[in-house]
Amino acid sequence: MNVKGKVILSMLLVSTVIVVFWEYINSPEGSFLWIYHSKNPEVDASSVQDWWFSSWFNNGYQEEEEDIKHGREKELQLQDWFDPKKRPEVVTVTHWNAPVVWEGTYNRDILEKYYAKQEITVGLTVFAVGRYIEHYLEEFIISANRYFMVGHKVIFYIMVDDVSQMPLIKLDPLRSLKVFEIKPEKRWQDISMMRMKTIGEHISTHIQHEVDFLFCMDVDQTFQDSFGVETLGQLVAQLQAWWYKEDPDKFTYERREESAAYIPFGQGDFYYHAAIFGGTPIQVLNLTQECFKGILQDKKNDIEAEWHDESHLNKYFLLNKPTKILSPEYCWDYHIGLPTDIKTVKIAWQTKEYSVVRNNV
Ligand SMILES: *[C@@H]1O[C@H](CO)[C@@H](O)[C@H](O)[C@H]1NC(C)=O
Repeated sequence: MNVKGKVILSMLLVSTVIVVFWEYINSPEGSFLWIYHSKNPEVDASSVQDWWFSSWFNNGYQEEEEDIKHGREKELQLQDWFDPKKRPEVVTVTHWNAPVVWEGTYNRDILEKYYAKQEITVGLTVFAVGRYIEHYLEEFIISANRYFMVGHKVIFYIMVDDVSQMPLIKLDPLRSLKVFEIKPEKRWQDISMMRMKTIGEHISTHIQHEVDFLFCMDVDQTFQDSFGVETLGQLVAQLQAWWYKEDPDKFTYERREESAAYIPFGQGDFYYHAAIFGGTPIQVLNLTQECFKGILQDKKNDIEAEWHDESHLNKYFLLNKPTKILSPEYCWDYHIGLPTDIKTVKIAWQTKEYSVVRNNV
């Protein structure tokens, strides 16, 4: 082929390509380009970018305005209020960098200023069924009224199986009380496990709209000193007083593989106490739902975890690390004595009169 022939051939080739391409972008069968040109004529690449940029910018700006309107301050940083070096003799920071709050490690003034501006409301759920009402409930509420989140709005959510037995208690002005009647279970193990289900239902239906933080506590304990804003966090766990110095392989975790609460030897961080847990309502909701799922799965497989809901709670906290941990000072058992580690007891276990308050021991 001569040079002229080659030129004509390549021109033919090029024009064919151009025609095919033109047909392609104008074809009615929706190629991306076709949609792009005829369905969204107003959107071109630069306006997409503009829109994305301005909405991102506006959102940021609006959030800041919202913060100012609600008196929210810049997020408090851990080092602003927490000094782990104040208690060198105990574990004050976990391996995932969560604070373990011991007496002396926190600056309550700074925290108080921060939370007072936010005008928080803190919820506290407690269950009293059968003889737990007459034995523990009144003292629990009276002491909570005095020591729990002093100076902040508090809502007590009291779950009882017999509303007529509810003691009359005069509360301080920032405190209110909501009483709910629950169906009693026969075995105390079931009462304890059904708690997870009931708390979850109440968070979904109303608690999430009423409080910023929520604690869930056992009733057979009393407040003895200020249980304040230093305990607030996204997901809060309590160290069990008898186990805080022990090796994890000694913990009474559920060790049978068939249980949903199973934790193998060699794993686990701390032994957490189900007598106190808390966090934001959404975090506590997930916790209660997941624990209850585990409890139901165990029931289906005809197994019950060694420490019931507490075993499932420990499994949950193994998978979902708490963002804050409370030292055993927050839930102390005087039967242990009073080692020098324990500076101020905020909550003390009551004498457990199991033979009196439990139907089945
Ligand atoms: C809820 O719990 C599940 C199971 O542990 C976990 O995978 C998930 O990340 C949790 N969700 C939140 C929002 O914490």
